[in-house]
Amino acid sequence: MATVKTNPFNLGSVLSDEGFCNREKELDELLSHARNSANVILYSSRRRGKTSLMKRVMDEISREGYLAVYVDYLSVIGENDVTEKFFSAVARAVGKDVTEKSFAERVMKLFTRIRPSIDIGPDTVSISARYDRSETFGHLMEDIFLGLNKYLKDNERRCLVVFDEFQEISSLPESKRIEGILREHIQDQNNISFFFVGSRRHVLRSMFTDSKRAFYRLGFIYEMENIPKAEFVPYIVDRFRDTGKKCPEEVAADIYDYVAGNTYYIQKLSHILWNMTGQGGKSTGDMLEKAKVELIRSEAPIFQASFVGMNFGEKKLVRALAVEPSGKPYSIDYLARHTLSAGGVQKSLRSLIDKDVVEIVDGTHRLVDAVFGKWSLRAEMGL
Ligand SMILES: Nc1ncnc2c1ncn2[C@@H]1O[C@H](COP(=O)(O)OP(=O)(O)OP(=O)(O)O)[C@@H](O)[C@H]1O
Ligand SMILES: [Mg+2]
Repeated sequence: MATVKTNPFNLGSVLSDEGFCNREKELDELLSHARNSANVILYSSRRRGKTSLMKRVMDEISREGYLAVYVDYLSVIGENDVTEKFFSAVARAVGKDVTEKSFAERVMKLFTRIRPSIDIGPDTVSISARYDRSETFGHLMEDIFLGLNKYLKDNERRCLVVFDEFQEISSLPESKRIEGILREHIQDQNNISFFFVGSRRHVLRSMFTDSKRAFYRLGFIYEMENIPKAEFVPYIVDRFRDTGKKCPEEVAADIYDYVAGNTYYIQKLSHILWNMTGQGGKSTGDMLEKAKVELIRSEAPIFQASFVGMNFGEKKLVRALAVEPSGKPYSIDYLARHTLSAGGVQKSLRSLIDKDVVEIVDGTHRLVDAVFGKWSLRAEMGL
């Protein structure tokens, strides 16, 4: 009896090794920065595969004997969070694969001001930090860095620290001080490479390129590009074929173009199309049209939420750029075609670029999220 194949396209947020498309060049370059203890600022717009790539880099560098520390600053809301998330990540990396007893021996002795507390469940290990709340941020950071360095020295290891969604630090009220203290520690490390990763490109870039900011010139700036179409089309075709279905090349190419190369949407649209295609069957252009509508519907609640947060002028400009990306959104013709005003466009463009809703690529203003643009025109599409 033939086994039923499961859908090969991933809907989760982070991709493991299996099913990873390309990124060989990025992987090589990032690994060489990590081996040289160089710092990297890596950014791209949302859901292009940054975190997945970081996991790959960390897996690889760990195999080479490095300590890999992953800190996620996405939901950071205060100074304490900055400390606790960093501390837990360090303790988790140092204490990897240890039992409750050896964890105490290995991790506890490294720190003086912060005490880790560990909770080992059947499938999860959670580590939290306990410390005197009157301790300053500077002292707590010093404790973490001293402990980490002691561990690296005693074990003759080197280290990669990844700070994901690092730009969130800059939105904290005490960001200036936090950035200053972090910089002091980071610039002194010879055995540690730091990767600062983020999706709010504008914010992250300015943290590292503004000469008045603490992180000015702290590392290589690395913009992550889309995976090329020539890599992704065969990836889609092969995964259909390997699971007993067919996806013609032109359909796969249409998937890529429709979502402008966004890795998350490629996975999702392919996933929907795969489900529509019968076992042993072949997907068609008609099926893909239906799959596109389903994709837009499934993302609608998220789009709705970000649209609600925009003012009238921003919404109008989003719709205009969805219909017509432009190198000259201020030109009289463009304004007239989309009933916009020059002053309004100027204001809206600034805020939409800042929020990473609009980007300028090769001189053309366009929406970062092509599917969001299509959704914004849903009434015109009859949805
Ligand atoms: N190399 C890859 N090959 C194929 N699919 C990928 C690849 N990298 C990422 N993806 C797909 O893209 C989705 C988004 O990936 P990931 O969460 O790593 O992106 P991100 O840039 O970190 O997103 P965010 O901006 O939300 O943090 C994943 O679920 C995965 O399905
Ligand atoms: Mg991510």
